[in-house]
Amino acid sequence: QLGLETRILGSSIHFEEVTTSTQKLAHKLAYEGVDEGTIVVTEEQTEGRGRLDRKWFSPKYTGIWMSLILRPNIPPTSAPQLTLLVAVGVAQAIQEVTGIEPDIKWPNDILVSGKKVVGILTELQAEPDRINSVIIGIGINVNQTQEQFPEPINNTATSLSIITGKKIDRALLLQQILLHIEKLYLTYLKNGFKVIKLLWESYAINIGHQMVARTIQGDIKGHALGITDDGVLKIQSDNGEIHLIHSADIELIPK
Ligand code: BTN
Repeated sequence: QLGLETRILGSSIHFEEVTTSTQKLAHKLAYEGVDEGTIVVTEEQTEGRGRLDRKWFSPKYTGIWMSLILRPNIPPTSAPQLTLLVAVGVAQAIQEVTGIEPDIKWPNDILVSGKKVVGILTELQAEPDRINSVIIGIGINVNQTQEQFPEPINNTATSLSIITGKKIDRALLLQQILLHIEKLYLTYLKNGFKVIKLLWESYAINIGHQMVARTIQGDIKGHALGITDDGVLKIQSDNGEIHLIHSADIELIPK
């Protein structure tokens, strides 16, 4: 029992003990036209996916593996805003439940002490000028031990319980995540991205830093200026040119 205090998010919950990927199941449900706010949650994914076709390791009973379906009336170009909104909601909930102050690394990673705790994957079912559904996958390493992470991610990933030294109540965390995301989403629908952008910037670690953005068009090295009103990253390379980065892997260059 989740004891949800939300109205939209989790209005319909599809729970599976094990599934290939909640993202895959959510795509199917979205296509079939389920209500906005439907969430898909599982205890274990056998084919969890990350960005850029990577695998997302999702062992049984240790994490939060979920996907949520939203149907905002926004243009497809504004969809990256939702990734940032969800990252803020998850960061707020983690802070509230565990006391940890997490960092957000553009676009979608939540880190603690430089190690990844949360990954977010935003995908669209859209026409060129209209979104039908946004499917947002959230993966959170909650109660894994360090030994449970396979090579090579055991150097770069950690879990909330490793950091706090305590077992975390996953149902409580999930409930708080939905509550925070819903509050932000309602603010967003009413007032736009401005407030969300400010909140996001308060958690962001890569703004103002030197970094390399590895994009499919090649690497861009420069200084991150911030994000645009659409949630796109702005990097200024050493020759002064400004690049808008829609999708990339970011490597921070230590000072
Ligand atoms: C990333 O950092 O690359 C994004 C990871 C997203 C993982 C979540 S777990 C729930 C949902 N189902 C999936 O197969 N992937 C997302």
